[in-house]
Order: sequence, then structure tokens, then C-alpha cells
Amino acid sequence: MEDVVLAPGRYKNLHSSTSLGEKFGHLHQMIRQEFTYIDRVSVSLFDREMNALKTFVQSSKDMPLQFYECLIKNAPSLMEMKALKKNRLVNDMTVFNNGTHEHTRKIASNGYQASYSVPLFDCDDFIGMLFFNSYQKKVFKKKDLIKLDLYAQLINCLMVNKLQSSQMLVGAFRSCLGLVSYKDPETGNHLERMARYARLIARELAKKCHIDLTDEFIENLFLFAPLHDIGKIGIPDDILLKPGRLDEKEWEIMQTHSSKGREIIDAIADHLGLQSFEHLSLLRNISGSHHETIDGKGYPNRLKQDEIPIETQIVSVADIFDALTSHRSYKPAWSNEAAFEELTRLSGIKLNPDCVRMLMENEPAILAIQNRFGDAPGDHA
Ligand code: C2E
Ligand code: SIN
Ligand code: SIN
Ligand code: FE
Ligand code: FE
Repeated sequence: MEDVVLAPGRYKNLHSSTSLGEKFGHLHQMIRQEFTYIDRVSVSLFDREMNALKTFVQSSKDMPLQFYECLIKNAPSLMEMKALKKNRLVNDMTVFNNGTHEHTRKIASNGYQASYSVPLFDCDDFIGMLFFNSYQKKVFKKKDLIKLDLYAQLINCLMVNKLQSSQMLVGAFRSCLGLVSYKDPETGNHLERMARYARLIARELAKKCHIDLTDEFIENLFLFAPLHDIGKIGIPDDILLKPGRLDEKEWEIMQTHSSKGREIIDAIADHLGLQSFEHLSLLRNISGSHHETIDGKGYPNRLKQDEIPIETQIVSVADIFDALTSHRSYKPAWSNEAAFEELTRLSGIKLNPDCVRMLMENEPAILAIQNRFGDAPGDHA
């Protein structure tokens, strides 16, 4: 019998629990071994609600389209690819020189000269776009495309798998949230707003403070922020709904909501067999630690400063700002001005000062969110 010599594990990195960004980087390296001219590979995901494409993951020397969003109706060529399930080859992007689309201009202004784009689907549902870009013109050859299409299908599967796991988890948690909202006064649009404040802070931190937060991280933060108080489902109604101040005993019970949240999340992930889901730690940190404060006097673990994960510090500021500006069973709604004063007071003592600053420096964005997701009068959320 002959010895079987195992081939070097060319795809082994796809099977490890590395992040999607790292997997994507490895795939790009593999693709470059064969097609040296491919300088950028990226996936933009389709957001049905906003009808927009958003950069989700990319591998390139530079990061030309970080945080980029493009309304799909402003990109007729993308609309056509989506409708007809057709790929598109542009071997000379100077044809776009007179184009008005920010997306193509940005790509071209970073020196890319050719692109091959593939729409991605989950069965019949359009989920996003895959782009291969090159700094050189006229490099994509017909025969290369056949091979590239295989990689594209691999990436398609990777994305579907990714989306399905997060949909499953998020779906399970959303169902729980639905249960919480039957009993929690914190309903209305609190969750819509605080998720958007969290995303705003994260984007600004990445831009202005050079804190390394990827698009994927920020999207997941946005998705998971509404689950921060899921542990309130375990708090008795007479405490949760109490109109006035809590007494000491009640306050002690109330404080268990963050640890309960982490336990619920672990249990659900266990039941779904998704313990290794890449972003579980994000979710556990958001729910379990969102009442830790940087002075080490928060709960449940009295974590200090950098011991508190950045996602949690972001969510705390977003949650507190919205709690202050909303009606609660125990307090009236404050004006933005009064809430800003309070945040300023808490900044550096309880809350991360950069997170507070990134929120307060963007009042127009705050007002846009409040306008879009206001609470109807009488809807005391
Ligand atoms: P919540 O109503 O969502 O409030 C979230 C966080 O916003 C609070 O976390 C606190 O950090 C901040 N916050 C809310 N109102 C004020 C305020 O008037 N001043 C300041 N400086 N910060 C404020 P915290 O304190 O850990 O409370 C967690 C949860 O416990 C609250 O969630 C609420 O559900 C409940 N809770 C807290 N205090 C009372 C109370 O006096 N009565 C009742 N019934 N519930 C309370
Ligand atoms: C576009 O598809 O509109 C621009 C080309 C690209 O991103 O590759
Ligand atoms: C958003 O929806 O992405 C933020 C802006 C808004 O809510 O109007
Ligand atoms: Fe909470
Ligand atoms: Fe909250």
C-alpha cells in the first residue's frame, strides 16, 4: 500500500474560528497566487430596509471605502446585476471618469483601473456584491473569470453561512426581546435610537480617534446593542415597573439584570449549537458589562478603565444618553441639553470621555435619529 501524502492545508484557515476579515485576507492571498493583478477583494452587503449596499469586509492595501454606503437606486449598473443575476467586467474604469457615482469615483480615485463584480444570493434573495479590483487596466481575461467565479461562489457560501448564523442568533434573541417588551416599560423606540447612537459613536471613534474598529464590528455592534437589557426578562414586574425609586433590596435584584443577560445569551447560543459564533463575545460583553463604569464602581464585576471592552463602553454612553432623554417609570424625559450636561459630568469618571465626545460633537445626527425614531406622546418608552 502506498503512503498517502497529505497536501498542505491550503484551505485550513477557512476552517478555523478566525474572523471573517482574516478568512477574507487568506482567500485574497490565495487568489493573488494565481491572479497577481487582483489588488482588492471586497464584499458589500445589501441592507433591504435602507435599500443600500454597505462595505462589509475587504482585503486591500488601502481601505478606500471604509464605512461606505451606497443607495442601490443610485447605482443603475448594480441594480441590473441584481435583477439579472449577472456579473460585470469593466476592464478599463476610465469609462467611469465622467460618472457621477460616488462609489465608482472613489474606487477609481484610489487608482483602481479594472473591476469584476459578482452579485451574491441566498437562494433567490440578493444579499450583496463581491468586487475584485485591480490597479491595472485590461487584466481580467475570460479564462480567469471561470476560476474567479469559483472563488466567488466560495465567498458566496461563506457569506450565506455567516448571515444565517447571525440571523438565527439574532432571531432567537429578538424573540426574547419581544417577550421582555411585554413587561418592560423600556419599549417604544429606545432600542432603535440607542443602537444608532452606539453606531454613531463607533464610527466617529474609528474616524477621529483612530480606534481600530472594522465595519463588520460596527455593524454587529449596531445589531446587538438592542439586546443589552435582555436580562430584564428575569426581573420581577413589581421591581421593573415600579413608578418611584427602588429600595436597597429591590436595587440589588435590579442589578442582577446584566449577569442574567449574559447567562441567557450563553444558554441560547448553547441550544443553537452556536457557542463558537464569532461575535458571541461582543454580545456577552454588551449584555453582561453594560453597567460597569471606568472608575471601577459599576456592576457586576467592578471592572476599571480598559478592563471594560470598548463595545461595552460605547453601549453604556448610548444607553445612558437615551435613558436620560426618555421618559421612564421613575423619571421624566430630560432635554438634550440637560442630558449633555449630565454626560459631561460623568465623562472621565464613569464614562469613556472619547465616547461621550463623539456623541456630543454630533448633535445633528442625534436630532436626525430622534426625529426618525421619536416616541409618540403618551407612548412612555
Ligand atoms: P434604564 O432606565 O434603562 O437606565 C439605564 C441607565 O441610564 C441607568 O443605569 C443609569 O446609568 C442611567 N440613568 C437613568 N436615569 C438617570 C438619571 O436620572 N441620572 C443619571 N445620572 N443616570 C441615569 P442604572 O442606574 O444601572 O439602572 C439600571 C436600570 O435599573 C434602569 O435602566 C432601570 O430599569 C432601573 N432603575 C434604576 N433606578 C431606578 C429607580 O429609581 N426606579 C426604578 N423603578 N427603576 C430604576
Ligand atoms: C461599481 O460597481 O459601481 C464600481 C466598480 C467596483 O466597485 O468594482
Ligand atoms: C440611520 O438610520 O442609519 C441613522 C440616521 C437616522 O436614523 O435618520
Ligand atoms: Fe441595563
Ligand atoms: Fe437600556
